Amino acid sequence: MAGFSRALGAGACGSEGKTRAGQMTKNGKLSEWVEEMRQLCSPERVHWCDGSREEYDLLCSEMVRAGTFVKLNEAKRPNSYLCLSDPSDVARTEDRTFICCKNKDDAGTTNNWRDPDEMKAMLRGLFRGCMRGRTLYVIPFSMGPLGSEIAHIGVELTDSPYVVCNMRIMTRMGRAVLDALGQGEFVPCLHSVGAPLAPGQKDVPWPCNAGNKAIVHFPEERAIWSFGSGYGGNALLGKKCFALRIASVMARDQGWLAEHMLILGLTPPGGKKVYVAAAFPSACGKTNLAMMNPALPGWKVECVGDDIAWMKFGPDGRLYAINPEYGFFGVAPGTSMQSNPNAMLSLGANSIFTNVAMTPDRDVWWEGMTEKAPPRLTSWLREEWSPGCGKKAAHPNARFTAPAGQCPVIDPDWENPRGVPISAIMFGGRRPSTVPLVFEAFNWRHGTFLGSIQSSETTAAAAGAVGMVRRDPMAMLPFCGYNMGDYFAHWLRMGRAAKAGHQPAIYYVNWFRKSAEGEWLWPGYGDNVRVLKWIVGRLAGTAGAVDTPIGRVPAPGALDVSGLNIGRAEMDELLKVDADAWLSEAKGIAEHYGKIGERVPREMHDELAAMERRLRAR
Ligand code: GTP
Ligand code: SPV
Ligand code: MN
Repeated sequence: MAGFSRALGAGACGSEGKTRAGQMTKNGKLSEWVEEMRQLCSPERVHWCDGSREEYDLLCSEMVRAGTFVKLNEAKRPNSYLCLSDPSDVARTEDRTFICCKNKDDAGTTNNWRDPDEMKAMLRGLFRGCMRGRTLYVIPFSMGPLGSEIAHIGVELTDSPYVVCNMRIMTRMGRAVLDALGQGEFVPCLHSVGAPLAPGQKDVPWPCNAGNKAIVHFPEERAIWSFGSGYGGNALLGKKCFALRIASVMARDQGWLAEHMLILGLTPPGGKKVYVAAAFPSACGKTNLAMMNPALPGWKVECVGDDIAWMKFGPDGRLYAINPEYGFFGVAPGTSMQSNPNAMLSLGANSIFTNVAMTPDRDVWWEGMTEKAPPRLTSWLREEWSPGCGKKAAHPNARFTAPAGQCPVIDPDWENPRGVPISAIMFGGRRPSTVPLVFEAFNWRHGTFLGSIQSSETTAAAAGAVGMVRRDPMAMLPFCGYNMGDYFAHWLRMGRAAKAGHQPAIYYVNWFRKSAEGEWLWPGYGDNVRVLKWIVGRLAGTAGAVDTPIGRVPAPGALDVSGLNIGRAEMDELLKVDADAWLSEAKGIAEHYGKIGERVPREMHDELAAMERRLRAR
């Protein structure tokens, strides 16, 4: 990257670096912090990102020269690049992710806690000199539309040009953000791949520091320090670190919600549009649902966001949501013109692909993109690959970074600074058994209970075993920046903040129930609109439901399965509430609450007891 800032005419660090800061911002706190971090990290130079296309193109071409990026076939995928990470750096590392607040109980048992002062001392050691031989990029970014009352500004310092380019797609980034910031507050986000270069040392395509990863959050100070990983949520600090872990704490203190949720607009044929938010754990179907092609004629789904929602009650007492992001960082494997055509069309140009396979004519491929794999590929491990070789061509957590504005069904209000009004909230996850296709909460408090007991099989989105069922409350287990019990209490409080009759209705869904033979019982994807149709019917008071001990399931015939090859017996299986299975589930829930500890609100224990009573009364 040696040529970069020289080519742009930026000054080297030292006094020139300072001058440059002075030209870029009048925010004293920002220029002081940048200078302090420059002295700590000792980069060769400092570059303030203006967010321009020229800057992006220059960085990309330098990464091509360095072997970090491969420029994809311009005719097939204009302005797009492939990036292959180090095989040790392919997903979020939850065991290396820390919440550092003064009191350990405030982080809770579901987070890795460290004393802030001790952690800071350790980090200063790690970061000292860590950017030697590299450029420190200053990335001012806004989470949410510039000027939105719900939006917040962050500044990421990183030595990774890959991070700069991804941040330009994922956030509103650059000079305009500095102008909007003025003398205001920002969240400082420091990132390094942790791989300083000695004079003359040749760089590797994906520098990282596998043995020393630390993704660290200081919620009381609202600061983020991330070391050693260049991948996704570990490194694009606006996303999970800021928009979820730090923002969840801000939301608790300020009375709003920062959630791991998609936001979609749903318009029935000839009917009124409603907005729905849904929390599913990582790699459990948010991107797919957010931009689905409905299987029912006349229904329309439009996408506001696919991963994160910031939500506030408006003056009218309704809950309004914005997508704080500007792009999609989506799971590539399984994405195809059949499963998610709108994602495929979003990533047709101006995109970055990480850890997918490459075709001989320099296009991308991944498992599930086409029914038949191409005869020859270069795999994500840079190896020659052919079908039947026994290895995956793309890493299971391979991702595309694509501008949200390129989604053919992006919602006209996706950048509305006021947000969109949410009528229903869905929780869900991967459960091969026990959890029905859909059921409705009796009320907000019961819905909060359902969120608190959410569970799912683990996926490749995080390092570790795949396919283990774990509790993942509100899909926030890896992302809640404070005590999970307090988080449940916050949800209860937020319900009370809604104007009567304006609380969103809450649903629990499970697309992933399997037959005894291990096959999906539900077709999923575009057919999930059938479940949305029932929800819209419930909101309008027209769709039937029957009470069960766990909530309300669709009445017989109330779920539109027209044109589907699903028999009565399969439908019964999909909606079945097995009392014995749920009684044993209740035991697991009691243990789950026990592990979270004393701060689980009494209301949640009461809801659990009430559910058990209803199950026993059956
Ligand atoms: P993160 O970006 O990690 O937060 O994930 P996400 O929730 O956006 O997940 P995504 O929509 O990318 O889905 C990931 C995986 O779930 C892919 O392999 C999909 O093919 C699969 N999937 C999504 N929707 C469905 C569905 O309705 N049924 C089934 N069986 N699989 C689905
Ligand atoms: C997730 O894991 O939930 C993601 C991808 O959305 S990452 O940004 O890497 O966390
Ligand atoms: Mn996610």
